[in-house]
Amino acid sequence: MSSFASLTRLLTVTTLTGAMLLSATAMASGSPGKALSEKAGLPWPAVIAHRGASFDAPEETLPAFILARELGADYLELDLQRSKDGVLLALHDDSLVRTTNIAEVFPARAQEPVSSFTLAELKQLDAGSWFNKAYPARARDSYAGLKILTLDEVIDIAEGGANKPGLYIETKQPQQFPGIEADLKQALEKRGWLRERPAAAPGQVNVAQLPGRVVLQTFDKTSLQLLHKEMPQVPKVLLLWIGQGAIAPKSSVAFKDSGFKDKAAWYASQEVKSEAEFAAWIDWAKANGAIGTGPASRLADGGEQSYMDLVKPWMNTMTHAKGLIIHPYTVDNAVDFNAISAAGVDGFFTNRPAQLLEFYARPAKETVDSLLKRNGY
Ligand code: G3P
Ligand code: CA
Repeated sequence: MSSFASLTRLLTVTTLTGAMLLSATAMASGSPGKALSEKAGLPWPAVIAHRGASFDAPEETLPAFILARELGADYLELDLQRSKDGVLLALHDDSLVRTTNIAEVFPARAQEPVSSFTLAELKQLDAGSWFNKAYPARARDSYAGLKILTLDEVIDIAEGGANKPGLYIETKQPQQFPGIEADLKQALEKRGWLRERPAAAPGQVNVAQLPGRVVLQTFDKTSLQLLHKEMPQVPKVLLLWIGQGAIAPKSSVAFKDSGFKDKAAWYASQEVKSEAEFAAWIDWAKANGAIGTGPASRLADGGEQSYMDLVKPWMNTMTHAKGLIIHPYTVDNAVDFNAISAAGVDGFFTNRPAQLLEFYARPAKETVDSLLKRNGY
């Protein structure tokens, strides 16, 4: 690209939203999170495609991950579970009801957890049609019949394009899967993801070559310790939440007794018990191998993924001062990218990597629609 074309593109991008000017301020090169990210071998700021590009394609399926890779996300995020016959899978919910046709295929077993099905049984399920029903405006005929993916298949996608994203892997419900941390180590080792990997071509995403090519994340303290024992050299993130088994709240009135009609409004009302309580969690995370935190965040327009505000400026300042980076979940809109970036974070989990890439002034070279069509969707 000529320098004039580059400048034109930069100006076009920069004028897209006022948010971007603010984002440039928030991303000032002096951010402590930038230095900490670089020290840990992670890109900064990080674009983490939450369950793939899951706004535009069914979560944790082939098109969601291919789209995230092709758009230029730094990481493919996935939730790790294990089949009855021991195969590692990318799947968020414990139950198959929301995102598959389990009720049609195995009606008597529809309520059973993922762990009670073999891979052959899971591969009989349609993991795409639910999306077409839930989101008709984003539906595509080609999503019907999509399959649940194994970890190996997600790794194939990460390796399969010119962009070489990293993997951001959450041990989901790890207490249901004893030994899953050791299984994950074995799987990553077998695929060569615990050693240096080949570089991407110039101009392509090259996160898979960085030391932070894999980031391990969990809400579960025991799982964090096990992940650290198995893979001490791999960067780890403790996911943060307020509630039972997590950060203690200031007030422990349950949602049902709170008078709030809207769950997002109730979440937004939740405060940490004290600064000392928050500090204790950051200290514990660091002492047990984490290089960062994944805090819940409150979104301007509420909605299903708007949670408690654990990215207040004082929290971010404290976290950085204690040497940890901050990747909040799950943020999809410029208004929230801007406000939360200004509070001092180091990237985001997002269902809409195209929007976040645009916000960070490194827009995708092709539209979502064009990429999906070109890849057969
Ligand atoms: O892993 C970060 C974020 O994904 C945590 O929430 O429920 O979407 O896995 P969840
Ligand atoms: Ca997750």
